[in-house]
Amino acid sequence: MDWGMRNRMARMFPGGTDGNTVMLAVDHGYFMGPTRHLEDARATIAPLLPYADAIALTRGILRTSVPPSSTTPVVLRVSGGATVLKEDLSHETITTAMRDAARLNVSAVALSVFVGAPHEHESLVNLAKLVDEGEEAGIPVLAITAVGKELEKRDARYLALACRVSAELGAHMVKTYYCDGFEKVVEGCPVPLVVAGGPKLDSDRAALELAHGAIAKGAHGIDMGRNIWQSAHPVPMLKALRAIVHDKATVPEAMDILDGAKARTAAQTAARA
Ligand code: R5P
Repeated sequence: MDWGMRNRMARMFPGGTDGNTVMLAVDHGYFMGPTRHLEDARATIAPLLPYADAIALTRGILRTSVPPSSTTPVVLRVSGGATVLKEDLSHETITTAMRDAARLNVSAVALSVFVGAPHEHESLVNLAKLVDEGEEAGIPVLAITAVGKELEKRDARYLALACRVSAELGAHMVKTYYCDGFEKVVEGCPVPLVVAGGPKLDSDRAALELAHGAIAKGAHGIDMGRNIWQSAHPVPMLKALRAIVHDKATVPEAMDILDGAKARTAAQTAARA
C-alpha cells in the first residue's frame, strides 16, 4: 500500500488499521430521498461531526451540508442510479468519478455490491474497476454489502460470501450487517469490516448491543446512521457508541454514558431557556 492510501486509512482508523473506527452514515438520501431526521442534512450532521472518525455521504450532501473547514475524513458514496420507487435496487452504476473524489479530498470511496441480486455481476465489476482507479489515485474503496431480497439479509452464510467476494476483488474495507454467527463473516474477510445499524431498532440499548456484539466478534468499527440520528438523543448515542468501539465499554457502561450525556444535554437546554 502506497503512502497516500496508508495515510487515508490511518485518518479513518485513528488507532491504526488494526484499530477501530466510528463512521457516521448519512448517505441514505441517494436512494431513499429525505429520510426521517435527515431531511435537513446540514442540521443533522453539524452536532454529530465532532464525534465521528469519518462521515459517509454523497458528493451532493458533502458540498451542500458540510463546511469545507471540516477535518473529519470523508467516505464518499460513488454508486447509485436506483431509488426505493423501483423493485430492483441493485441496478446501480458508478455515479461519481474518481477525479471528483480526489478533488473533494476524500479518505475513501464507497459503493454497494449486490450479491444474489439481479445486477450482482454489474455491481461486482463496478467494484473491481473502482479498486483499479482507487489504487491509481491512492484512495481506498469501501464495499457495502447488500444482499438480494430473495436471500436472507441477515444470514451469516450470505454475508460472509458477499464480504469475502468484495475483499477478493480488492476492496480495502467492507461494510456489512450484524447477524447471528457474525464471527463467521469476520473470519472469512481479510480486510477491516465495519457494521451498519440498519433500520431504527426499538431502543437505544438494542443499537448499543448490536455494536457491542459486532466489536466483540471482530468488527473494526461501525458505519451507522439511523440508530444515531433517528434516536431521540443523537449526540449522547454517538458518544455511547464511541465508548463501545474505542474503549471496550460494556453495554451497561455505554448506557451510563448515554444517560449521563442525556442529562447534561437536558441541563444545558434548560439553562438556555
Ligand atoms: C445505505 O443507505 C447505506 O449504506 C448506509 O450508510 C448504511 O446502511 C448505514 O446506515 P444505517 O446504520 O442507517 O443502516
